[in-house]
Amino acid sequence: MLAERRQTEELMDDPALPVETYNALISDLARVNRLTLAYRPTLAFLDQALAGRDSFSLLDVGYGQGDMLRAIATWAEHQGKQAHLVGVDLNPSSLPAARKATSASAPITYVTGDYREVEGPFDVIASSLVAHHMTSAQLSDFLRFMDANAQRGWFVNDLHRHTLSYLGWPVLAHVMGWHPIVRSDGHTSIARSFRPGDWATILEEAGIAGAQVARWFPFRLCVGKIR
Ligand SMILES: C[S@@+](CC[C@H](N)C(=O)[O-])C[C@H]1O[C@@H](n2cnc3c(N)ncnc32)[C@H](O)[C@@H]1O
Repeated sequence: MLAERRQTEELMDDPALPVETYNALISDLARVNRLTLAYRPTLAFLDQALAGRDSFSLLDVGYGQGDMLRAIATWAEHQGKQAHLVGVDLNPSSLPAARKATSASAPITYVTGDYREVEGPFDVIASSLVAHHMTSAQLSDFLRFMDANAQRGWFVNDLHRHTLSYLGWPVLAHVMGWHPIVRSDGHTSIARSFRPGDWATILEEAGIAGAQVARWFPFRLCVGKIR
């Protein structure tokens, strides 16, 4: 059933989606992220990558409602590190939603567009739940871009294509009363995501050496590289 990555499009990627619907579903997505401990792998990577640094810059590709960037800003404040955080998202509806959810004093700049249009360099380039939206060719380009432009390291936080999460997700999403598009896209996302063996092939095809693949509870599969 899940032997290969599924190619189905997700409903949230439809540019014709009404703004109110998009806002409702990315709010729920931020709730899913909190409940499923989604920030932990990225923050653990930053602990390691930025140890000993007083300041850093970071680009978050595909920020959605900006909740990962807010978690990183809070982490940086607790660590006493000065953060320069930039988020880029293709969907123009993400920008007002993320700004509304973010304190004006947070060190975060949100922009709309493709990640290749953002002027760097950055110490770290990160993303969460974005890689599985990409085709193999797009993912290869993304990995090469990060490898060339992230001065300290890069981190891809994504899902593990696991039968248990695929079967359990509809039940959890129903019990939590999440938006129907989040329920449906979550299911598709799991089927579009990755297994450890996929990453070995993807990294090899992209010509990337030195990256580490790690599983995180529950059902996250992350890939990172520190120089
Ligand atoms: C599932 S959402 C993830 C949002 C957020 N990171 C989270 O974890 O909740 C994927 C986001 O990636 C964005 N995205 C996909 N490809 C992109 C690209 N090439 N450049 C910038 N953003 C991109 C989409 O617009 C979408 O908002």
